[in-house]
Amino acid sequence: MNPIIELLQNHRSIRKFTSEKLTREEIETIIQSAQQAATSSYMMAYTIFGITDEKKKAELSEITGQSYVKENGHFLIFCADFHRVTEKATQEEYENMLDNLENSEHFLVSAIDASLAAQNAAVAAESMGLGICYIGSIRNQIARVDELLNLPRHVIPLFGMAIGHPAHKSEKKPRLPLDAVYMENEYKLDRDVLDKFDDQIQEYYARRSENSRQDTWTDQMKRRFQNTIRMDVTDHVRNKGFNKK
Ligand SMILES: Cc1cc2nc3c(=O)[nH]c(=O)nc-3n(C[C@H](O)[C@H](O)[C@H](O)COP(=O)(O)O)c2cc1C
Repeated sequence: MNPIIELLQNHRSIRKFTSEKLTREEIETIIQSAQQAATSSYMMAYTIFGITDEKKKAELSEITGQSYVKENGHFLIFCADFHRVTEKATQEEYENMLDNLENSEHFLVSAIDASLAAQNAAVAAESMGLGICYIGSIRNQIARVDELLNLPRHVIPLFGMAIGHPAHKSEKKPRLPLDAVYMENEYKLDRDVLDKFDDQIQEYYARRSENSRQDTWTDQMKRRFQNTIRMDVTDHVRNKGFNKK
């Protein structure tokens, strides 16, 4: 196994960091690696924020309910960004761009571009011996986070990423069997594969050292999708000019 594959297959989220801050050089290496990800039609439809203001970090920690949003080596927020492409447009050009800026296609483009950049950042950080945790719960209060970052129209927060020097070694979390996520030519899901995975996950949750519990993957998903969350995201996204048509 080459060292990159080994790194990728050893990923686990880190939720406890030492107080050591990332150096400017480390931050720049991570962001430059993120930037080199492939990007739809060269749009580079994202902006990455580093949150260095301790007050903002504290508020984000409160919004997310997660201490590691405050206690880390550096905290990033990835945003979908189509403001930049409008910056030099005349009013007439902007109006001609709107159908594209506001459609679902470009909402997907920006979310995909930002995610690819983020995963490059994650891999870069992990290759430097750092740990990361993605933070989707900044969307607990998406409008407040948007305001905190002073985001213009056509820019929305998507997710955060806590990065730092790991202060614990979490267990590697099992993934679905390959047969459940890789299909050839047509959709075919074998329920037995899910049953086997549920057994494996039940065992994993029962024996893991932190937060051990009685659960299966499919039960977890059924519970999750029966409880609506963040229903304000739809309106916020649309109000900012995304996914409107
Ligand atoms: C977009 C995204 C958002 C996430 N948001 C959170 C979060 O808000 N808080 C958290 O503790 N973990 C968060 N995670 C981490 C996942 O819970 C974690 O990746 C998953 O359970 C698998 O565990 P592993 O990363 O240790 O393999 C997020 C992951 C992704 C990809």
